[in-house]
Amino acid sequence: MKLTLKIWRQAGPSVRGSLETYELDGVSTHMSFLEMLDVLNDKLELEGREPVAFDHDCREGICGMCSLMINGEAHGPEEGTTVCQLHMRHFKDGDTIVIEPWRARAFPIVRDLIVDRAAFDRIIEAGGFVSVNTGGAPDGNAIPVPKENADAAMDAAACIGCGACVASCKNASAMLFVSAKISHLAHLPQGQAERDRRALSMVSTMDKLGFGNCTNTYDCEAACPKEIKISNIALLNRDFLKASLCSRKGV
Ligand code: SF4
Ligand code: FES
Repeated sequence: MKLTLKIWRQAGPSVRGSLETYELDGVSTHMSFLEMLDVLNDKLELEGREPVAFDHDCREGICGMCSLMINGEAHGPEEGTTVCQLHMRHFKDGDTIVIEPWRARAFPIVRDLIVDRAAFDRIIEAGGFVSVNTGGAPDGNAIPVPKENADAAMDAAACIGCGACVASCKNASAMLFVSAKISHLAHLPQGQAERDRRALSMVSTMDKLGFGNCTNTYDCEAACPKEIKISNIALLNRDFLKASLCSRKGV
């Protein structure tokens, strides 16, 4: 395949960026999208030009590092797919593809297609954990969990923290991400002790970091490569309201 790539290039956070156009020939339909970018970067290096900087790690759809807007869609056109698992067979010979970084105030651009998603780490630090002395590895069945709760917790735990929900939301809301983390622990017995504190702390950190509010447009759910459901946001809202009204002072 021969492609025309329009890629956002930006040398640094405070430098003005722009879309640059590259022609790339010999792209195999078997390549992943990131392998296609590898081929482009090899070509740029051979020509003595600066390769395009982009984020990636596992390339197996589990680490949440890859993060590209492809023709205006977070992680590209395939549903439930990370950009590293997106294959070039979903594009046609002669296509023009526009590739941009996530755009959200809370995710500042580092370089080209790389953004700083440390804001997600700050939210997790605020409450996305269970404070117990775990000691040795406990037996898997030591604490019984109803099957439907275990399934709901597992579905929410599938969130890989990629940020596509924020990037696709017109408000740059992080509600789907936060609700996945809240819902994961709220469905498990181990998560009950700090449930109120977790909801208050994670939501207040999310607000402080500059993410917008949810206005129920569902773009986050459509863009999520792990198909996290917006019903988790309803659980987050219930937990936050209950904690705001009922939790002890200082929690
Ligand atoms: S909710 Fe989905 S889109 Fe948002 S960070 Fe988690 S996996 Fe990515
Ligand atoms: S590189 Fe790890 S999820 Fe895409």
